Amino acid sequence: MDSLVIEGGSRLRGTLKINGSKNAALPLMAAALLADGPTYLKDVPNLSDIQHQINLLRELGCDVERLADGTLKMEVKDEQNSHARYDLVRKMRASICVLGPLLAKRKYARVSMPGGCAIGDRPVDIHVRGLEALGAVIDLDGGDIIARADKLVGAEIFLGGNFGSTVLGTANVMSAAALAVGTTVIECAACEPEVVDVANYLNAMGAKITGAGTPRIIIEGVKELKGTTHTVIPDRIEAGTFMVAAAITNGEVHLANCRLDHLMAAVDKLRTIGVIVEKDNGGCVVSSVRRLEASSLTTQPHPGFPTDLQAQFMALLAIADGNSVITEKIFPDRFLHVAELARLGARLHKEGSTVIIQGQKKLIGAPVMASDLRASAALVLAGLTAKGTTTVMRVYHIDRGYEKIEQRLIAVGAKIKRVNQEELDL
Ligand code: EPZ
Repeated sequence: MDSLVIEGGSRLRGTLKINGSKNAALPLMAAALLADGPTYLKDVPNLSDIQHQINLLRELGCDVERLADGTLKMEVKDEQNSHARYDLVRKMRASICVLGPLLAKRKYARVSMPGGCAIGDRPVDIHVRGLEALGAVIDLDGGDIIARADKLVGAEIFLGGNFGSTVLGTANVMSAAALAVGTTVIECAACEPEVVDVANYLNAMGAKITGAGTPRIIIEGVKELKGTTHTVIPDRIEAGTFMVAAAITNGEVHLANCRLDHLMAAVDKLRTIGVIVEKDNGGCVVSSVRRLEASSLTTQPHPGFPTDLQAQFMALLAIADGNSVITEKIFPDRFLHVAELARLGARLHKEGSTVIIQGQKKLIGAPVMASDLRASAALVLAGLTAKGTTTVMRVYHIDRGYEKIEQRLIAVGAKIKRVNQEELDL
């Protein structure tokens, strides 16, 4: 297992290009199961989660090839196997997004029920309810969700839950409804940019979807969808993470291929605490020249502050001037980073789903343990500012969502080394 060894204190300067979005690419790849003929996805990042999705699609009879320019070419060749096995799903719970496409195209899907993960229970009941509303009969057998429907029929569907809507649930139901008979109206749809990207992709295949990006999505079912070419949107969470990297090191970083309109809440928060974020051609420049101010934030569904940037902002506010408050409203238990940040000297007091942060002048390097993707990113960010050496262990978590993170941070001046366990033991 690799670790990242970080010498803190370097100001980051230079340009970082933001990759295509992992969380858009995963449902986009699943939606390729709906298409007749080859489909080409450009800007799919090279990450372990993407590789898991490739393995799953191959098992489901879809040929997947990475072309020389990085484009993923996908084409369904055999529709016999519609079983997403636990062995594959447990490695990546986003595999659930094959459920809607398989059901709509093959009339049958057997998808292992994803279990919980480090950030919480993560049920899929709303996905199931949405597909049932389209006429699917759904059973649970041996831990697998079994969905059947000779014909899906458009319906009015409410997709809200106790914690807001569901991103992958909306993608699943919207993808299935694209091939249903008649009109589907999804109310309380997730408004995340990744949902819009899936809708644009389906429309390019021949679907008739309007309203994606708003809480009401209307889908006129069509008979067939054809392969197409589509470019994945830039990863807004990677961009937000690198914005914090610039801010936490008092650096100046140009982010290329970055959509500020996808990151309004995070940019607003950065500006409130004193970070300078300026739009430029196709991206932005993020800089900071002084100690940042404390603030409060609450995670919310888009366009509110994203839960996927909560941990990174906690690392940043840990060195702000004053007390900050972070409340997590999407995944109330998503706080595994709290105890690890405390090892670096952050003063954090957790009360339920709220953390009070007493800003410190500096953090101090220490060995820490990565626990999930965004928590690990927060530890790397904290390491960039901490005095001395921070070793972030188990960085396979970070490799799930950030391609070659150390090489990209090194290119803008960070001092980071990737080492394996034996090197660490020396
Ligand atoms: C997506 O997960 C992202 N994953 C997550 O990113 C992200 O944190 C999350 O959306 C919220 O923005 C991918 O896109 C692959 P949800 P998803 O269904 O769709 C509850 C990362 O770090 N809920 O929108 O699975 C759920 O428990 C990852 O990149 C139900 O109750 O999340 C949560 O409280 C982690 N029943 C809320 O809704 C359901 O059937 C939102 O979850 C579904 C969800």
